[in-house]
Amino acid sequence: MKAAHAAQGEDLTAEPHAAHEGTRDVDRHAVHEVTREADSHAAHEGTRDADRHTVHEVTREADSHAAHEADAHAAHKATHKADPHAAHKAGDQAAREADPADHRAAREVIDIATGTWRAQALYAAAALRIPDHIAGGAVSCEALAALTGTGEDAVRRLMRLLATMGVFEGTETAGYRLNAVSTLLRSDVSGSMRDMCLIYGEEFHRAWGAVLPALRTGGTGFEEAFGSSLGDYLRDTPGAGPKFQRAMSVGSAPFATVSRAIDFSRHHTVVDVGGGYGTLLSLVLRGNPGLRGVLFDLPHMAPLAHEHLADAVDPGRYEIVTGDVFEEVPPGGDAYLLSRVLQDWDDADCVRLLVNCRRAMGSSGRLFILERVVAEDRSTALPVLWDVHLMLIAGGRERTLPEYRSLLARAGLRLESLEPLPLETSLLVASPA
Ligand SMILES: C[S@@+](CC[C@H](N)C(=O)[O-])C[C@H]1O[C@@H](n2cnc3c(N)ncnc32)[C@H](O)[C@@H]1O
Repeated sequence: MKAAHAAQGEDLTAEPHAAHEGTRDVDRHAVHEVTREADSHAAHEGTRDADRHTVHEVTREADSHAAHEADAHAAHKATHKADPHAAHKAGDQAAREADPADHRAAREVIDIATGTWRAQALYAAAALRIPDHIAGGAVSCEALAALTGTGEDAVRRLMRLLATMGVFEGTETAGYRLNAVSTLLRSDVSGSMRDMCLIYGEEFHRAWGAVLPALRTGGTGFEEAFGSSLGDYLRDTPGAGPKFQRAMSVGSAPFATVSRAIDFSRHHTVVDVGGGYGTLLSLVLRGNPGLRGVLFDLPHMAPLAHEHLADAVDPGRYEIVTGDVFEEVPPGGDAYLLSRVLQDWDDADCVRLLVNCRRAMGSSGRLFILERVVAEDRSTALPVLWDVHLMLIAGGRERTLPEYRSLLARAGLRLESLEPLPLETSLLVASPA
């Protein structure tokens, strides 16, 4: 393993996802909103104890499917009241409600089957920088076509679809305007989701296109489509690594809450294993001025991590160490972070890397794992979606709480607690068994 350098400072008050700043209670409230579990507030409170998660799951099980649907319907209506895009969504909703009851299932199939069309329309807008152009004053389809090098008729039809989907406000005659959704597709805003839309619409779209061969062979759709694993592709394709990391950063909204969710006061050195860009590490270091940090990742990630950390953290507070997590994890830390790493590997590999973390952390260290936990009662939405996505792009998986417990136990670790974070992400805290 090789040590690389340290450097200095950006104002993290400007860090993306400021919406998630706030008290932990507020964050929990956000989790409630996302998971639509109106009655689980009590169960969520104080869920540092992993067993409370079980209580929480039991509570969820008590909800009937019908109740869930009713909640969803109520939530949808409530959303309409508060949501600035209600006018657009209302058109969509009105179209649904006009369907006779015996056609609802057909509508459902059409909605699901055309989901990829919606996603690709969103991708096109992001790739063509349409939100940036509208922000710059180009509100007519004629101007947008000229600026994006596309046909005016084509842009007109794309914008009509996107406005109907609630992505833009306005009309062709009045001109189009940004709303909260399209603002997130601008390239120059805090929390921009443009990079995520690009990789989803390009590499990941192609990987999903190979879903059948992947399911049949047990390989990944990514390998079917690109002829190499995602890891090799990111290492060998110019520009692919930064593109992937920028997309990963978009999904790091829960990171802003980690500094508050973890009491680092008893820790001195935090090691971010597979830390990528260093987005999480920089937030943790900024939130805990007494802490030192080590970012550990593959050698090709070091320049990217250096670039980010050099801008975000004071000199001397961190080092970048490169190596292979399956060989050794840097020792000497007393807090180890493992964010969105286990999701990429099968159980045997997870145990191997967890054993290396256990070895590095000594007897008094703690391991903090950020992952999406699949609820066993079908009440989680994003974890099961990402579970299939991970299977198709990396051969990885999302796991249930018992599955995490089992992996940890096989590596000599014990699950201490679980805390829900925004966007259906969880913080699992483990210590030596
Ligand atoms: C999905 S990314 C997660 C990055 C970051 N922790 C986050 O949550 O944004 C997985 C990370 O694991 C790193 N990684 C993959 N294989 C590794 C290995 N064998 N040794 C060390 N790091 C590895 C990748 O380079 C990547 O940065």
